[in-house]
Amino acid sequence: MKLEKDISLKPYNSFGIDVKAHQFISVQSKEELLEILKRFYASELFVLGGGSNMLLTQNIKKTVLHINLKGIEVVEDHTDYVLIKAHAGENWHDFVIYCLEHNFGGLENLSLIPGNVGTSPVQNIGAYGVELKDTMAYCETINRQTLSEKRFFTQDCQFGYRDSIFKSKFKNQYIITSVVFKLTKKNHQLHIDYGSIQTELKARGITSPTIQEVSKAIIGIRESKLPNPKEIGNSGSFFKNPIVDYKTLKAVQTDYPDVPYYEIDEKSMKIPAGWLIEKTGMKGYRKGDAGIHTKQALVLVNYGTASGKDIENLAKLVQKKVKNKFDIALETEVNVF
Ligand code: EPU
Repeated sequence: MKLEKDISLKPYNSFGIDVKAHQFISVQSKEELLEILKRFYASELFVLGGGSNMLLTQNIKKTVLHINLKGIEVVEDHTDYVLIKAHAGENWHDFVIYCLEHNFGGLENLSLIPGNVGTSPVQNIGAYGVELKDTMAYCETINRQTLSEKRFFTQDCQFGYRDSIFKSKFKNQYIITSVVFKLTKKNHQLHIDYGSIQTELKARGITSPTIQEVSKAIIGIRESKLPNPKEIGNSGSFFKNPIVDYKTLKAVQTDYPDVPYYEIDEKSMKIPAGWLIEKTGMKGYRKGDAGIHTKQALVLVNYGTASGKDIENLAKLVQKKVKNKFDIALETEVNVF
């Protein structure tokens, strides 16, 4: 563990934004983490996980604490299922692949999501009809003030759409050190109702898929519409899909009778933000190196040298256009610093 000074955070955020960290420490074990938490006040630290859900708009004056705890282990092995633990610094997709190689089912729909395991519960990451909360058993944390360890079971986490207690009541209060999942060893429960999965499986001539085949189909879909952060800087969906009331939906339907939406309950519906942005004409828009992805308008991209402020300004422009056209406020999904 060494303290570095004035380093670029470009390799540590998937947007590829070149800002500096005044000080930077990467911790590889719980002991190192505890040492740092003892040494610094919580307010002096900026906690960094996989850096895949953040937009950095300025140099970080605090000490950046990079959570790089590694390791995957089966903590309980039963006839039908396992409890498997991944430490916070494990890459999410690599962990999903590890599970598939061992034929552990439950995470296949979450293939290729960027980021690390440790931040997955914060966002309750989700894709193609599955969310993290569906398979998480518990996560292990350290309280940043008291340094005591606490296990949060799924029911304690107030999971919602891209939301959890770690974003609200306990924001910045805990560091997640590992996440434990309950995954099936047999009789896997497939979630393949999502329209594009069916289409993709059919195109591959697969009628009764394995979990590995579902994962491959998901990877195929994601690769066809979402930019690879290794090639083009991005943070996945920049905005959340807005949840609107019936009156707002009706107003949109007046001009666009075929607007896609998902019913949440009889009073609220989710409209895809990507669709709304596309209808403002901004899909594929580019100013300098800040742009809106050509295949999925929900994703803002850095074509190379955009600054965090360039992306932030573009996000504000998108919000303004959607507000003016549809009277719908888009909330960012990505954390802006
Ligand atoms: N759409 C458009 N134009 C676009 C993008 C989308 O018209 O530019 C329409 C599509 O045609 C479709 C609908 O919007 O009818 C939904 O599109 P898609 O299936 O691509 O999903 P999404 O609602 O845009 C959400 C998640 C994604 C996740 C996919 C698949 C959010 C904010 N985003 O996107 O998550 O991969 O569903 O489950 O909920 C992420 O969080 O980073 C992310 C990529």
